[in-house]
Amino acid sequence: MSKPLQDIITQVPAGSEARARAICEARGNRPDELLEIFHDLQHELGYVPEETLPVIANALNRSRAEVYGVLTFYHEFRRTPGGRHTIKICRAEACQAMHTQNLCRHAEEKLRVKFGETTADGQFSLEAVYCLGNCALSPAMMIDGELYGCVDKERFDSIISDLDRGAGA
Ligand code: FES
Repeated sequence: MSKPLQDIITQVPAGSEARARAICEARGNRPDELLEIFHDLQHELGYVPEETLPVIANALNRSRAEVYGVLTFYHEFRRTPGGRHTIKICRAEACQAMHTQNLCRHAEEKLRVKFGETTADGQFSLEAVYCLGNCALSPAMMIDGELYGCVDKERFDSIISDLDRGAGA
């Protein structure tokens, strides 16, 4: 019988590669568990570090490109450590109908990051979510747990600049 996942994780050194190896092992080194492995890693480390990809590829007997392709396909996985503020923009249907893609593009340009990344100054992480339960006020976003509705480019800039100004406080 396999050991519980938490038992295995706590026995390995703190290094992310070792943790990735342990998580893969706990998941039976099964390629069909890849998304769960990413979820476990993100839960444990806060993101999926680049250096864990060869470890995962090796454990699952998959190419590194394949593992990287899956990681980057799903916007919910973070590839860099989290920033001081986490911005989640909804990309689900009701928000799509209200042009959330324009807001998403604007956010990427304004912050100079892609979804799943953190700004160079460590201030903001940008993440995609799929419905925040605020469909009537689309497009919606959430920052550090606070919900915002009817977010256009101007409102986004204003919210971000307020948060930026409060950074040193
Ligand atoms: S679809 Fe965006 S909040 Fe529901």
